[in-house]
Formats: sequence, structure tokens, C-alpha cells
Amino acid sequence: MPAGASKFYQTPALGHARWGFLLERAPTCRKTSCRMKKASPVSRSGRFSSGPGGDAAKFTESISFDRRLWRHDLMGSIAHATMLGGISVLTKVEAKRIIRALEAIGEDIEAGRFDWDESLEDVHMNLEAELTRREPAGAKLHAGRSRNDQVALDTRMWLRDEIVDLEEELRSLQQALVVLAQANDDVIIPGYTHLQRAQPVYFAHHLLAYVEMVERDRERLLDAFSRVNVCPLGSGALAGSTLPLDRKKVAVILGFEDRQGRPVVSQNSMDAVSDRDFAVEFCFVVSLLGVHLSRLAEDIILWSSSEFDFIRIADAYTTGSSLMPQKKNPDIAELARGKSARLVGNLVSLLTLLKGLPMTYNRDLQEDKEPLFGSADTIRATVRLTDAMLRHTSVNAAACAAAASDAALLATDLADYLVGQKVPFREAHHLVGEVVALAEKTTKPLDQLTLKELQGVSRKFKPDALEVFDLKQALAKRTAIGSPGTKEVKKQLRRWAKRLD
Ligand code: ARG
Repeated sequence: MPAGASKFYQTPALGHARWGFLLERAPTCRKTSCRMKKASPVSRSGRFSSGPGGDAAKFTESISFDRRLWRHDLMGSIAHATMLGGISVLTKVEAKRIIRALEAIGEDIEAGRFDWDESLEDVHMNLEAELTRREPAGAKLHAGRSRNDQVALDTRMWLRDEIVDLEEELRSLQQALVVLAQANDDVIIPGYTHLQRAQPVYFAHHLLAYVEMVERDRERLLDAFSRVNVCPLGSGALAGSTLPLDRKKVAVILGFEDRQGRPVVSQNSMDAVSDRDFAVEFCFVVSLLGVHLSRLAEDIILWSSSEFDFIRIADAYTTGSSLMPQKKNPDIAELARGKSARLVGNLVSLLTLLKGLPMTYNRDLQEDKEPLFGSADTIRATVRLTDAMLRHTSVNAAACAAAASDAALLATDLADYLVGQKVPFREAHHLVGEVVALAEKTTKPLDQLTLKELQGVSRKFKPDALEVFDLKQALAKRTAIGSPGTKEVKKQLRRWAKRLD
């Protein structure tokens, strides 16, 4: 678990008995049934006689999608109230009453008893209005705070939770790959380049390639976490506040800490309210992860086809055809491949959104949420479904063995044999090319040629030349680190099983 995360879930800093309820990271924010009130424009400031109504309200509202930030918005408000109590902007009693009201609101939302009001635009205004309705001192809570630093805070806290959950799901996916690899650790398949049979590999080696890719994705995700885990609260609208805010205290309460337990707060108020690079970074990391998973999905699709028939996906992860009774289609894998398009699209949307924005906050930034939420939801569903599908996939060892018995896969080994006879590799490559041509001409598999036929091509072929075609031997000979050799693959399987334990 990344620094900042563990403390975050256990922080006793508020010393409030029911605080734990808000700190639970059960994804109930999505399950909460939320009722929507019809828009009823309300006056929101002394300057305006009314808020935007009708189409304008619909155009500007974000409550329909940002209400999923409610838990983090409440947590941020509780931390802010605690801090304001500490610097005497609120009395201790006021702070306590505000915190109690915020918690009660949280309980109501959790229980589906909260009416969201579109005319109040967003999650921040909805919650603040409700707070003030329940507790008059709530009108003091927004001192030293703007929705600009508030929304940056909420989004960072929300994303931090998503990253923690996704990281766990990625480990589980890696485990699923290792489990399938271990269960079939003696299965050999052709490895391909250009989708043409190339050289033999262990099936496990092929799967472990994805474990490596996902590991790099996981590392990138954790690296991105350190830049998400920075507290922007206290930056105000863009220029901080004249109040003596204790930003570090808020950061500690909310778990914005580095590995040494030191509070991490943003260092420039204008940057803090206006950049969304942390969201872009997350969208990039999950785009690349999605691209990796699309490649895995493609292999699964190919392997499950009648042409390959290397694997069987359990019925639950396939669908039938409405017309053709015999069909069993790998729809889950196809959608895992297809979903990566959205992830890349969301990344491009976010980058385009930020391009050329003047300092500092601009309402355009509200458009960051749907791509960000969409990418998080999409990648997490893709990871979970790919994981489950792999755990319900079996290997057709006979079909794999038949494909791997293609002696042409060992043509390179035959060239290596000649290298062992001191033939320069380029010449060996040429000679084996002649052997392959001879096999084609005589319509014999490579390993059925006689020693006499081989020696007709080169006297360098000795009686042991045909031993090259022993597949098990061929794989045992691959001893270099990272190769698909028998010992090396076993070693890698052990390494991953231990690491993921
Ligand atoms: N709903 C807004 C968003 O997501 C919140 C911030 C609004 N700030 C403002 N000054 N209008 O960006």
C-alpha cells in the first residue's frame, strides 16, 4: 500500500468516534441510491438575484456525476472544520456541531435518504447548503476555502482510493496469470512473430510476459500516487487566504503524508487549483494498462478459436449467437480489448481540455470528471473481468502439443548446431535455409529428413544433428536469464508466486 494510504484509513486525528464511518473505503458511493430533486434556482450570492435556470442550469450542473465525491467532500469539510476550530475561526462547540451535522449527512446519503438538488450545481454546494440548513454555524465553514481548492482536494482523495483499490486488483490479476501458468507449467506452444510460428516457448513463459507488463503498470500507478497524494486545500480560489490556515494539520488529518509520515501540501496556490496533471497521469497509466490488457485479450481470443484451440474459456465468460446455434463467442475478452479505446479517448480528452487554459481555475475544469471517472470505472471492470476469466480458463494440452511438435520451430536450433560446429552464423542460417527448402520440396517435416539428406546440404551435419529436434532438450538448453528455458521458466514462476504471495 502506498505511503499516505494506510494512515488515511486509520487516522485517529479527529478523535471523533463516528469518523470511522466516513473513512471506510467501501465503494458505497456508487451503490448509494440518490434521488434527484427538480431544479429550483436559488439565490447563491448577494450579487445575483437568481442562479442560472432551465437549460443554463442543466448545462452547468455537475451534480449528476460529481455527487460520487460526496464522501470525500464530507471528509475534507470535517478536516477543514477541525482546523478552523484550531485557529479559532470556529469555536470548539461550532466545530463539533458542524462535524456532527456533516456525519449525519453522510449517514443519510449512505442510506439513500438524501435529495440532490440540481439547482445547487455541484456536490460541494449541495452538501454545504444541507449543512447550513441543519446547523446554522455551517455558514462559517467556507471561511478560507473555495470550491476551487475543494474540488481539487475531493478529486485527489477520490483518485487516491481508486488507485489503492486498483493496485490490489492488479496484484490479483497477476496472481491469476501465475496460477494458470503454474497449472500448465509443462505445456509448450509455438511462440509467434508476425503471427507466424517462430520458436517454441512454454505457455507459462507467454503468460509471465503479461505479468511483467502489469508489474510495470503497477509501478507507474504507485509512482503516480505520490503526485496525487498532495493536499491542495488552503489554496483558496487561487491566492490562498488572509486567515492563518494550518494547511499541514489538514493534510495530516486527511492522510496526505509521505513515506516518512510528513504532511505533503501543494507549494503554489495557483498551480494547486488549476492543474489536473495528476488526473492526466492516472489516465495515461490506465490507458497503457488497458492497451496491455487488450493484447492479452487478443491472445485469448486467438487461442480460443477453432484454428488454435489452445484454451477453453468457461461458458460464463462467453456468449452464444442469436442465429448460429454452435457459436461460443469470447465477448468478455473482445470487450476487454475494445474498452481500451475509451481509456485512450479519455486521456486525449483530458489533455485537450487542459491545453491552452489560462491561469488559474476555469470552469472548463469541471469537464475533467467524466473522463477521469470513466477511465477509473472502465479499467477496474476490465481488470476484474480479465482476472475472473483467466481463473475460469483451461488449457487444451493436446492441441498445444500438436502445434508445438512442428519441427520447423527448431530450424534456428539447427543453425545453432552448426555454430557449435564452428560454422559462422550467417553461413549456418543459409545452410539451414537450404535444408528447409529441401524439406518443403520433399514434403517432409524438417525432423524427418535423413542424415544423408542433411549431409547433402553440408558435411558439417554429424549423426547427432537430428537430436536437435528433441523439443524437451531444445527447451532445456535455453539457460539464459529471461529465456523460455525449462529451468528459467520454473525459476520465474517461483519468483512471481513468492512476490505475489
Ligand atoms: N463543479 C466545479 C468543478 O467541478 C466546482 C468548482 C467550481 N468553481 C467555480 N469557481 N465555479 O470544477
